[in-house]
Amino acid sequence: MKIFIDTADLDEIKEACSWGVVDGATTNPSLIKRAVDKRGGSVTMESYIREILETVPGPVSLEVIATDAEGMIEQARLLYRKFSPYGEVVVKIPVNPSLDESGRQDFDGLKAIRTLKSEGIPTNATLIMTPEQALLAAKAGASYASPFAGRVDDYIRKRMGMRAGVDFQKGDYFDHRLVKALVRMKLRSLIGKADSISEVYSSKDVREILSTTQDNGIYSGVDLVAKILRIYRNYGYKTQVIAASIRNARQVREVAEVGVDIATLPFKVIKEMVRHPKTLEGMRLFTEDVVPSYKRLFE
Ligand code: G3P
Repeated sequence: MKIFIDTADLDEIKEACSWGVVDGATTNPSLIKRAVDKRGGSVTMESYIREILETVPGPVSLEVIATDAEGMIEQARLLYRKFSPYGEVVVKIPVNPSLDESGRQDFDGLKAIRTLKSEGIPTNATLIMTPEQALLAAKAGASYASPFAGRVDDYIRKRMGMRAGVDFQKGDYFDHRLVKALVRMKLRSLIGKADSISEVYSSKDVREILSTTQDNGIYSGVDLVAKILRIYRNYGYKTQVIAASIRNARQVREVAEVGVDIATLPFKVIKEMVRHPKTLEGMRLFTEDVVPSYKRLFE
């Protein structure tokens, strides 16, 4: 599995690249805003992005800001032309750039991806929340598809009535297996009280339990990633899956277990991956146990 760093913060990018574990980077307008804010707004965007590209040893996703196909295509060409001399540019295109419910622009992202593919400009279809969107992105010719695992977990927890920042924090692991087990227990107890399976199947309580603990058959962000991978493998799509919106180390392990191509990780999640209290304790013990004669070997 490749690891990309999910940030536009050059200090973080440089440090993480020095650890030798970074294969690429992903940015988006929110991450660029955070990086610019950190520098007090004093950033020359062109040279800043150029430096990111020169630092990262692999693809760097840069996002367009237009929301119509023509605008996205123009911006993608510009980003690609301007920054390709400095590194491997991938253009991030929202899978569905609509800003309202009208549906007028629902397919503009896919149209842009299709055109850019024909021009040889690699794209990363972003803001993917369903396997259906990922399937369309692959058909349109996206080089990468980015399912937002953490945001799907947020969505399901919200449906369950959990409040962000109160009942769970952004970095908390979402235990979807526990939820599934609880649902199973609850359904079993409802079946026990009913006369027939069909009565339970159509009961309001059952509908309620099922619809609040999943998103139309998706049980978690990791489940979304696993389902997309299965679909792509079924048909041999070449689109690589980037697990995005990853919030903690255990989520990284789970997307690796299901065989994701790439996980794009915030700086602090990469740091979390290397730590364990017993590793720290072991290091302290080894350090205390060094005998002088062994120490002299290195002098
Ligand atoms: O990779 C997408 C990412 O930057 C969004 O992350 O944690 O804001 O959902 P998050």
